[in-house]
Amino acid sequence: MLSKNMEEALNKQINREYFSAYLYLAMSAYFESANMKGFAKWMRLQAKEEQTHALKFYDYVIARGGKMNLLAIEAPKAKWTSAAKVFEEVYAHEQKVTGMINALVELAMKEKDHATFETLQWFVKEQVEEEEHASEILGKIRTIGDIPGHLFCLDHELGKRE
Ligand code: FEO
Repeated sequence: MLSKNMEEALNKQINREYFSAYLYLAMSAYFESANMKGFAKWMRLQAKEEQTHALKFYDYVIARGGKMNLLAIEAPKAKWTSAAKVFEEVYAHEQKVTGMINALVELAMKEKDHATFETLQWFVKEQVEEEEHASEILGKIRTIGDIPGHLFCLDHELGKRE
């Protein structure tokens, strides 16, 4: 059984994962409006991935007999000024999420909650990838310059994401 503390912390994390999904969906809409279809597709798939993260936590709380407390999802902002600005924010956001996952791991260790600790290891590894992908794309944007014409090839590349 989950402790009340852990139950609350995991419920909060479900909300944060859904906020991430919302944020990336807003970014996808921004790219759609800028006619950058590849970036929009990449971001939409990222939003979907965040929903699967939320559901992984959801399934885990249910499996441990925990109570669900679905909290209101904060509205993300809707406007950015460039692809570089978007990916700077994605990178910063993922670093913040890594901090949240680490805090959960520390709580699991403090409570000697081995099952939660074990479940969180998937997220620890996932965050390494999340940060890596965001930083890689940001690096590419910076290398080619955040100029619409120059972003065409990268847009094509990102559109290949399945
Ligand atoms: Fe759910 Fe992008 O971390």
